[in-house]
Amino acid sequence: MKVLVVGGGGREHAIVAAIAKSSRVSKIYCAPGNAGIAELAECVPIGVMEFDKLVDFAKNEAIDLTVIGPDDPLVGGIVDAFEEAGLRVFGPRKNAAILEGSKAFSKELMKKYGIPTAGYETFSDAEEASLYIRLQNKYPVVLKADGLALGKGVLICNNEEEAMAGVKEIMLDKHFGKAGDKMVVEEFMTGREVSVLCFCDGTNVRCMTSAQDHKRAGDGDTGLNTGGMGTFSPSPFYTEEIHKYCVRHIYEPTMAAMAKEGRPFTGVMFCGLMLTPEGPKVLEYNARFGDPETQVVLPRMENDIVDVFEACIDGRLDEVTLSFADNAAVCVVLASDGYPQKYEKGFPISGLEAFRGCADKFVFHAGTKFGEDGAVLTNGGRVLGVTALGATLKEARANAYAATEMISFGNKYMRHDIGKAIDEA
Ligand code: AMP
Ligand code: GLY
Repeated sequence: MKVLVVGGGGREHAIVAAIAKSSRVSKIYCAPGNAGIAELAECVPIGVMEFDKLVDFAKNEAIDLTVIGPDDPLVGGIVDAFEEAGLRVFGPRKNAAILEGSKAFSKELMKKYGIPTAGYETFSDAEEASLYIRLQNKYPVVLKADGLALGKGVLICNNEEEAMAGVKEIMLDKHFGKAGDKMVVEEFMTGREVSVLCFCDGTNVRCMTSAQDHKRAGDGDTGLNTGGMGTFSPSPFYTEEIHKYCVRHIYEPTMAAMAKEGRPFTGVMFCGLMLTPEGPKVLEYNARFGDPETQVVLPRMENDIVDVFEACIDGRLDEVTLSFADNAAVCVVLASDGYPQKYEKGFPISGLEAFRGCADKFVFHAGTKFGEDGAVLTNGGRVLGVTALGATLKEARANAYAATEMISFGNKYMRHDIGKAIDEA
């Protein structure tokens, strides 16, 4: 088979690495890819939003399967474009990717179908939102821009002053662009967070092993929200009992609700959960693999991922049993100092060769490119994801931090407390 992966971050590198293990695959392309992906796939210089060019490429190269990584093209309808051209593609159609594309939609869906989540109201008028918040007078309060905002459109406000500034930022100043035309005001929840990624075929759900992200930029969960600074898998807090509850009250009902709404969901449904004192509740849905969750989940998966993709597309996921190694993985993101705000890039990276051919530690490229002389350079806020396996979470964490020492580049920044929660389990 010839497979095309759309995207160019750490998530796509992990997806390409999983596909490369399939005995059924003879050639992998990635658009646009990055310097690390280039070791496993032929990178094609087409952007993720250039649907016509991607479709033409897939037709001309007789691609058998295309896998979409990022949210933007999914929410924009890339799957529909591929399907209209008669191509096989893995991911939700536009009318299902709205589960991630609109928080107002997903909150309403949960309310309508009784899926546990934080209480909320939706507003399209800043003044009404402000009035509601002031009269409710309950802090912290959570403000969410309705649309896609690179995982940064969520503000947790501790008092009225912060909340009023937040409403202005999202709805009036349009800090997140059109994503802030509507806003969700949500009740604040407490508890441990866990990410569960589920393969879906429109009817059936198969859950992958759990993971926990670290969204804040600084140690001790301080600083700004980022795309994710590190992950570990499995989450020791996501017990078998909690899993059973979530299958029954969250994953299967969401699948059924989407089908009932005429929006059958095929692809990866990512459930961001909060394990609150009143039970697990949905923080958010994403319509794709998580980043960096994928960098700890897929290295532990034992199935041929191409078989699973095809079962989803063909609606026979009920025939699939997912299998994950009885081990653990930790991923530490190496970022450019200053991320998620201002940072310099273009620094040469050294030490990458130490990972070549390793089966227990991996370096997934997030923001890298080749310099003119062929050297690998930093090219983004998140630069690399260093993942290591271990028999236990503690062992995986020690291995991952040891592996981060092997890599150097200008402006290298990382959190030093990824997986700290493991010690409390
Ligand atoms: P989201 O993009 O919706 O996952 O939100 C980003 C982060 O904000 C989450 O990972 C949580 O840490 C936090 N968050 C979002 N919604 C809530 C909530 N209702 N209560 C507490 N924290 C929240
Ligand atoms: N790690 C969170 C996300 O992929 O949105």
